[in-house]
Amino acid sequence: MADELDRPGQTPADEGAEAHLPSPTIWPFAFAGAVALILLGLIVNMWATAIGIVLAVVFGFLWIRQVTREVRGEPEPVEAPAPVAAEPDEEGEEGPARYERSKFLEGATLGLGAAIGAIVTLPVLGFAVAPAFVGQEYPAADLGPLDNYPEGEWQIATFTSKPIDGEVTRRTAFVRYNGLKDSVPSFSILSNRCVHLGCPTQPQGPPGEPRKVETSTVPVELTPTQPSGYGCPCHGGAYDVEGNRTAGPPVRALDRYEFSVIDGSLWLGSPYSVSEVDGEGADAVIVKYRAADPGVHVDGPEQVFYPIVP
Ligand code: FES
Repeated sequence: MADELDRPGQTPADEGAEAHLPSPTIWPFAFAGAVALILLGLIVNMWATAIGIVLAVVFGFLWIRQVTREVRGEPEPVEAPAPVAAEPDEEGEEGPARYERSKFLEGATLGLGAAIGAIVTLPVLGFAVAPAFVGQEYPAADLGPLDNYPEGEWQIATFTSKPIDGEVTRRTAFVRYNGLKDSVPSFSILSNRCVHLGCPTQPQGPPGEPRKVETSTVPVELTPTQPSGYGCPCHGGAYDVEGNRTAGPPVRALDRYEFSVIDGSLWLGSPYSVSEVDGEGADAVIVKYRAADPGVHVDGPEQVFYPIVP
């Protein structure tokens, strides 16, 4: 009766209902962990999936066994009484704080949920996003002996940069030998990728007869041409013969390639971006920028809108 006075509004029936609540159990969390292991294993390793299935069966059985204990007439295990915090002593110092079980379960549920969410989503995110940031660089390509490039003549060089990956790695560059500058061979090598949205640009001029050139890396097809500039069929972007934008929506000049001459052959290196080209051929003044995506300004005030280029 004294207890009833301590809890106004609570009836003896309520007390009885509270007494029959199932005792807390860890098996649901263990079962959830096993399911997470199964999902992780589907991505990473089938052995992890097999172990997860076994654990899920075991933990699921233990969970069902626990919740059906009352139906099966098994007595609930009696819990040891929780240690009670020491009362403040005469000098006002408190004993160890009591840590409520409900708080522990709440924290454990949230923590376990976060861990399972991370285990399931992070590998998927990693596999989806990481390829865009790694292994995207072009391998160097041998474009053949220098005598395939008469001075002052443009050649359309087409080749498959990673034959194992197929036609999607097909690349085209516009190559012109500018003669010697300070006793060093000079080349202008433009990417054919439009810097508006990436469509392939075309030389505006009659193409010659294509020919195959065997090299130390991949076969290259060279087609001589006499362009007055380059045009993009997608949205009408136009460039002059040095790659400077002359009309349409592109935001900068055509990208260019580094090059080197090794044992008498022209090697194509990494691409780089250019805002504009001042001058022509070997005398052109070019400021190089890190290779940027189409549509990205590499200089001027607009560049602040493109702070990250993967
Ligand atoms: S992609 Fe070339 S103009 Fe749009």
